[in-house]
Amino acid sequence: MTSVTSLLAPVDADLHLLTENLKKLVGARHPILGAAAEHLFGAEGKRIRPAIVLLVSRATMLEEDITSRHRRLAEITEMIHTASLVHDDVVDESEVRRNVSTVNDVFDNRVAVLAGDFLFAQASWYLANLDHLAVVKLLSEVIRDFAEGEIQQQLNQFDGSLSIEAYIEKSYYKTASLIANSGKAAGLLSGVSAEIAENLYNYGHSFGLAFQIVDDILDFTATSEVLGKPAGSDLASGNLTAPVLYALEQKPYLETLIEREFTEQGDIEQAIALVKESQGIERSRELAAQHAQIAVQNIENLKPSTSRQALIELADYVLSRLY
Ligand code: IPE
Ligand code: IPE
Ligand code: MG
Ligand code: MG
Repeated sequence: MTSVTSLLAPVDADLHLLTENLKKLVGARHPILGAAAEHLFGAEGKRIRPAIVLLVSRATMLEEDITSRHRRLAEITEMIHTASLVHDDVVDESEVRRNVSTVNDVFDNRVAVLAGDFLFAQASWYLANLDHLAVVKLLSEVIRDFAEGEIQQQLNQFDGSLSIEAYIEKSYYKTASLIANSGKAAGLLSGVSAEIAENLYNYGHSFGLAFQIVDDILDFTATSEVLGKPAGSDLASGNLTAPVLYALEQKPYLETLIEREFTEQGDIEQAIALVKESQGIERSRELAAQHAQIAVQNIENLKPSTSRQALIELADYVLSRLY
């Protein structure tokens, strides 16, 4: 498998600068808030979202260098993503993320909620300072969408009648919205046409769905050590993802186990076994592959460049990723 680092070569130096800057940008008046907010930045994730913003920026600025606004947008995007993770770990009661203890674990839930809010607010401040109303609107929508996605997920817990369509809609809100809107925003900063802006949005939309479907598969197939976050936790908490929704079509007994919320001994182990015996994981992979393919089709309109090529290969990487 090609490593993600080699795929991101066209923006390697940009990402390096971004990591340095992010730590400076957080700043907080209160030391606890600062420490909490910085905690996850220090651990560094895969930086897929800012990489996409930077690749789109470079792919749409072929004649000249990208601007400081493009760079700031990439930083804002990673900041919003990190804020959403801080909140998501409170909701999921997770203790580990990026191989380090979560903010809720090191401090407590109250500090984590406030630290997440602080990061969202800080990101909004830098966003407003871009002085580009259309970009501000796109990214504000994303922050609203996170809340929508998390709420939909909570409301649908242990609901075995959840449709794949509803799962996809929730995944758009939780994950794809940020990638779609930040990619489009990068295009707007480059002054692309309305058509290209829409293509960039669609790329991020489909890429984001593929990314989340694969994350949901990995929750069944990978280990916590590899993922750097708890594996096997979605089903137990009633978060019914693609592999389970497909498995339900083949294994009706799974519905009984879900309905009683795995309250009897051995229920959860049996449920996981049923998912693995079914075609659920395979069909989820096919679904992710379809979305990755749609993502690629949407950037065929961009002029060929190493950055466009990296965006194409990133869609393949998503399907083969191990963590
Ligand atoms: C985690 O995103 C949340 C999901 C949308 C699945 P990443 O897997 O990109 O997390 P980091 O930033 O690399 O830690
Ligand atoms: C994605 O969903 C989290 C957000 C986009 C906030 P998950 O709940 O699947 O993310 P992980 O698995 O905890 O990273
Ligand atoms: Mg989670
Ligand atoms: Mg997950």
